[in-house]
Amino acid sequence: MATPTQIIKLREKRDEATLGGGAKRIREQHDKGKLTARERIAKLVDPDSFEEFDLFVTHRCTNFGMEEQVYPGDGVITGSATINERLVYIFAQDFTVFGGSLSKTYAEKICKIMDMALKNGCPVIGLNDSGGARIQEGIDALAGYAEIFWRNVMASGVIPQISAILGPCAGGAVYSPAITDFVLMEKHNSYMFVTGPKVVKTVLNETVSTEDLGGAMVHSSKSGVAHFLTNSEDETLLLIRKLLSFLPSNNMEDPPYEPSHDPVDRVCAPLEDLIPENPNKPYDILDVIHEIVDDREFLQVMLNFAQNIVVGFARMNGFPVGIVANQPKVLAGVLDIDASIKAARFVRFCDAFNIPLIVLEDVPGFLPGTSQEHNGIIRNGAKLLYAFAEATVPKITVILRKAYGGAYCVMNSRHMRADLVYAWPSAEIAVMGPKGAVEVIFRKEAKASADPKQTLLEREREYAAKFANPYAAAERGYIDDIIEPARTRFRLIRALEMLANKKDSIPPRKHGNMPL
Ligand code: HXC
Repeated sequence: MATPTQIIKLREKRDEATLGGGAKRIREQHDKGKLTARERIAKLVDPDSFEEFDLFVTHRCTNFGMEEQVYPGDGVITGSATINERLVYIFAQDFTVFGGSLSKTYAEKICKIMDMALKNGCPVIGLNDSGGARIQEGIDALAGYAEIFWRNVMASGVIPQISAILGPCAGGAVYSPAITDFVLMEKHNSYMFVTGPKVVKTVLNETVSTEDLGGAMVHSSKSGVAHFLTNSEDETLLLIRKLLSFLPSNNMEDPPYEPSHDPVDRVCAPLEDLIPENPNKPYDILDVIHEIVDDREFLQVMLNFAQNIVVGFARMNGFPVGIVANQPKVLAGVLDIDASIKAARFVRFCDAFNIPLIVLEDVPGFLPGTSQEHNGIIRNGAKLLYAFAEATVPKITVILRKAYGGAYCVMNSRHMRADLVYAWPSAEIAVMGPKGAVEVIFRKEAKASADPKQTLLEREREYAAKFANPYAAAERGYIDDIIEPARTRFRLIRALEMLANKKDSIPPRKHGNMPL
């Protein structure tokens, strides 16, 4: 039996350990506008649900007088907790201890909870705020990172992995968040880069600020590393909770159902006249998404990156879905390299975690030009095609307007094994747009005619009448039905019900060879 003295000693030790790097460093953390690792965990999880492991772990380094500087817990807080009453595993890097830098024992703590999360089929959430490898430890710290990376890869597609970047994340350390499914970056204090501004200056003689090199804005709008940009730590932590509400705990579970009060057969009247008469006029695809999903709630992923395609999570009659939609408002909704990569990764995530896919299509084709071709639109566009083809979750497409050329094939067409394909009466399903098409096939005829312009115009009208509609595709069974826009929500929910027990598989293989 523990004596009262032993209990008091334990409590004192705990209290001391929970102070991390001490009161002064906690103050400094607050002065930077940052929460401490413990405060972050407390805000993220359900009250009193956190079970901490390895509070008393210390590093074993004796280089450079490190044996004199020992902090229980060693700069990372790890454990399990619940979020909306569902179990998760968490690590939070504590910047107050050696700048949150990673030692061998610190890595072992993270690996322990990753192993437990995988065994128990629960998400892992990492709250990152670290100066990278603990320099005094040398190769041991690198070994620790590599152990984490290996686990990130093994857990990929098995349990959801989420990374919040709330401070520095530099050097090779960036590769753990990079492998995780979602990266959230807080706008004011977070940054990620493989080599920092000083190295950039030395090697390339380029002057660049931390913010411009690897700040949250850069990674959410240019590099595509971050999936969410947040305005504060509180917003980041709340967003993690929201994101998890759409995800199953592991790849063997269905995503969480939440009863909905939004009527299944709600008529979406605004969709009736949403598509402009002029096919070159844009509209906002978000108006369509908000109209059809439960309670207009849509969690957009990678909002600031490749805005010509929109991806995100919503619910249909209470069941989570992943939505992929061309955005006619940006670059006419064309597919380019960034859009293809963004959508491909999202499709693969949904497929790995049993989240049905809804595709809203209005795509004029792939973006032409030397920049796209030289940077590999062939190889990168193929990623999206590959992702749709490989996905075995229920896949439904609604063609709203344009479905042209290769982009028609790629965007979850019947031939890519979409389960159901619907079209609005405004759909135009053809090998290319009328203007471009007649210029190719009637150029000679027009040139030889008395009025070439008029000839081309007449041919364009003829082509449009023949192909700028959904009927040719419907006659061939390439689309399953032409639906009234106002009934889209109802028809999609019906379709999802029809596919609720879908079982499909792809040929057994070690893994495919997706063009990377
Ligand atoms: C040991 C570190 C450390 C590190 C910071 N500290 N980073 N200790 N190893 N990597 C310590 C500092 O010495 C300091 O201790 C305390 O943490 C707080 O750091 P400050 O510099 O005072 O804080 P700040 O001004 O906010 O600057 C934060 C920082 C900076 C930008 C992160 O500390 C920094 O540049 N650190 C080094 C980053 C780095 O080069 N890391 C290694 C990258 S290589 P005292 O006691 O003095 O207050 C790498 C390889 C990984 O990570 C490979 C994986 C495959």
